[in-house]
Amino acid sequence: MKQLKAEFLFLCTLVSCNGQYSALNPAGSSAKIIADMFWWLFGIAILIWILFVVLEFYTVLVRPGPHKLNRTRFLVIGGGALFPVIVISISIYFSLSPLPVLVKAAPEGSLTVKVSGAQWWWRVKYPLGKEQEVELANEIWLPVNEPVQFFLSSEDVIHSFWIPSLAGKIDMIPGRTTKLSFTPTKTGHYRGACAEYCGTSHALMHLDVKVVERKVFNEWLEKQKQPAARAATPRSQTGEKAFVTSGCISCHTVRGLSTMGQVGPDLTHIGSRHRIGAGILKNNTASLHRWIRETGIIKPEVKMPAFDMLPVDEQKAISEWMEGLK
Ligand code: CUA
Repeated sequence: MKQLKAEFLFLCTLVSCNGQYSALNPAGSSAKIIADMFWWLFGIAILIWILFVVLEFYTVLVRPGPHKLNRTRFLVIGGGALFPVIVISISIYFSLSPLPVLVKAAPEGSLTVKVSGAQWWWRVKYPLGKEQEVELANEIWLPVNEPVQFFLSSEDVIHSFWIPSLAGKIDMIPGRTTKLSFTPTKTGHYRGACAEYCGTSHALMHLDVKVVERKVFNEWLEKQKQPAARAATPRSQTGEKAFVTSGCISCHTVRGLSTMGQVGPDLTHIGSRHRIGAGILKNNTASLHRWIRETGIIKPEVKMPAFDMLPVDEQKAISEWMEGLK
């Protein structure tokens, strides 16, 4: 089994189901249960396959002739009824027995994260008690070895929240809150994706997930709580001013500057994120500039219009200022 597993994993590496998106590379309590379930069912399937290969050889090699009645009865009842009942019962047992653990809520007082799906990005909120919360987008940080409780919803159509290395997928349904809880067990950088077709740019709806030590998480959250630093250099002041006068603030919040815009992603600390555009472009000034200029080309039918009508230098100043929002 171990050898088989190693060979299968090697094959998987070739077809790239290993890595940041892999359900077979579990780094969370739920993902481990799901991966184990997969290996059990895979093992059962391989055993049956071997059995049938042997039977096939037998049918080819055996001399044809009449069979005894008892033996044919045994074959029909045993092979046609008993065997499938046993195999399916075992498979159902392995598939259903982990369900109670998978749907169990995290203990009271666990870290809570609210995520809502929108075409085609993720709004992420960390409630901090007393109606206070920190909002960001397309990136989630979690402390290792601590249970987390997710509350999931949608702002438009049905999406599906899936971080394969950490847990199974779960639908995000407009008007409803679905729940997911698990414990991340390995520090690292993982990726998530929307797993339910939700419109033209469904395939461009990704998510970065960082699992870190508690201390690092606290430092990160403390930073996220802070409002954005105001522009200090003439260049960043140009960017900040262009961001305000071009109307970006009617959709985006940058805490410390304006909290008017609630439609699009919160950009308070956008410079600190790994990627932009919901996990699709590396976060740097060039990508930010490209995003401002070619929004609908990068992500077809996205709600944000391209701001290619702005003078190029202003576009660049905005992207440089945004990159500085660490
Ligand atoms: Cu959101 Cu697919």
